[in-house]
Amino acid sequence: MNVLEIKNVYKKYASNKKINTMVLKNINLSIKDNEFVGIMGSSGSGKTTLLNVASGIDKCDEGEISIWNNNICKMKKNELSLFRRNNIGMVFQDFNLLNSLTVKENIMVPLILDKKYEIMDGNTVMELAKRFDMGEIMDKYPYEISGGQKQRAAICRAIVNNPKIIFADEPTGNLDSRSSKKVLSYFEVMNSEYNASILMVTHDAYSASYCDRVVFLKDGSIIKEIRKQGDKTKFFSCIMKTLEDLNTVKESLREEK
Ligand SMILES: Nc1ncnc2c1ncn2[C@@H]1O[C@H](COP(=O)(O)OP(=O)(O)O)[C@@H](O)[C@H]1O
Ligand SMILES: [Mg+2]
Repeated sequence: MNVLEIKNVYKKYASNKKINTMVLKNINLSIKDNEFVGIMGSSGSGKTTLLNVASGIDKCDEGEISIWNNNICKMKKNELSLFRRNNIGMVFQDFNLLNSLTVKENIMVPLILDKKYEIMDGNTVMELAKRFDMGEIMDKYPYEISGGQKQRAAICRAIVNNPKIIFADEPTGNLDSRSSKKVLSYFEVMNSEYNASILMVTHDAYSASYCDRVVFLKDGSIIKEIRKQGDKTKFFSCIMKTLEDLNTVKESLREEK
């Protein structure tokens, strides 16, 4: 069963000179139930745009995007908002936590929006906090905690509604390597224990090595796809080699600085 199906998707932006720039060109991509897929590509290749149209944040111009067999392109605004809240979790590079709310309140935002008071009254949030090692910081405000802790709070918020799929845009982009490692291990938890499929954008080969499969974007097209065989270390080498072959390794390293 496919959780996500992207078929023949095109997206263009109108630039100032009224010249339309085609940012996504005939994208076809399916994500299976419980699959963890990475998207790599140099800056400007269309990674964020692809994630935004796949998750319904943005509209595509042509093609079809289905999540669990529901075509999100055909949904009206309100229907899409509700569908997104119930089926999709999002994790961003800059965490997107609300500064006036505590960590616990931030995690509960999706529940409050959906009036899921039974979960709020129960122990679900605290159980989640325990599993993601958040116990001690639940009553703190975002400005009182580290970047890694903020991203773990964002992960809890993404998973609290039991979504079928998590979309993440450079989730380790603002973190040091130690925090990145921890955050990535919690992506594995979302994937293996909470059964969420994941589509994660990254330009970091180490992060990508956590995925089951990585697709490579160039100028708005998918130009290559590789599947994990063996362990993370082996997959990391394979990703590095592919980046070299695709001649994007220099740009990718430059971005990391
Ligand atoms: N809102 C927008 N309006 C116009 N052009 C955009 C917009 N968002 C992105 N683009 C352009 O689309 C291309 C792909 O951008 P993006 O998806 O952000 O790439 P990536 O995430 O891979 O760096 C870039 O050339 C960028 O300048
Ligand atoms: Mg981007």
